[in-house]
Amino acid sequence: MNAKIRVLRFGHRKKRDIRVTSHCALVARAFGAEGIIIDGDNDGIAENTIKRVNERFGQGIEVRHAAWKKTLKDYKKKGWKIVHLTMYGEELGKSLGKIRKEKKIMIFVGAEKVPGEVYKLSDWNVSVTNQPHSEIAALAVFMHELLKGKELGKKFRKAKVRILPTARGKKVQRLEKQFQV
Ligand SMILES: C[S@@+](CC[C@H](N)C(=O)[O-])C[C@H]1O[C@@H](n2cnc3c(N)ncnc32)[C@H](O)[C@@H]1O
Repeated sequence: MNAKIRVLRFGHRKKRDIRVTSHCALVARAFGAEGIIIDGDNDGIAENTIKRVNERFGQGIEVRHAAWKKTLKDYKKKGWKIVHLTMYGEELGKSLGKIRKEKKIMIFVGAEKVPGEVYKLSDWNVSVTNQPHSEIAALAVFMHELLKGKELGKKFRKAKVRILPTARGKKVQRLEKQFQV
């Protein structure tokens, strides 16, 4: 599957969501989204986290701040399909086949209560179980299922370090400039 994937994180609250929003951005990056747009308070926290991670572990994702409604409408006009992750949505397995055929997918995740309009604007309202849990978990499971595990081997360009997987301890390789492709 060669789709472009972006994430829209709705309703970031600077007092409550610092870690959760940053973790949504980290999951989106690690699993291969090309961008995350953050709606709500503009505190620059996720931007800073991702900047540091991109510099060290490789260029992976762009972070922007924008209002959710205009973003959804603009993206829809440009042909993006919206997948809203919600415990009220239809089962993941039901819509995946259709979603996998799309080339531009925006994944919408909430924080506080999501306005009813989002359910109407979305092309799919999808649940990852019908139990309440977390936007980070929902995003990770959805992307993993969507990409059938291929995201696990994603390579990141211009990394300064590379982790060498090992069963015990930590092995980190510092990359010389010429290997930072
Ligand atoms: C802490 S939950 C808040 C749920 C909130 N009560 C609501 O009305 O949507 C934050 C976000 O996590 C995601 N989420 C939580 N449970 C989910 C589930 N079972 N399936 C899909 N997404 C889920 C949704 O994107 C949701 O907006």
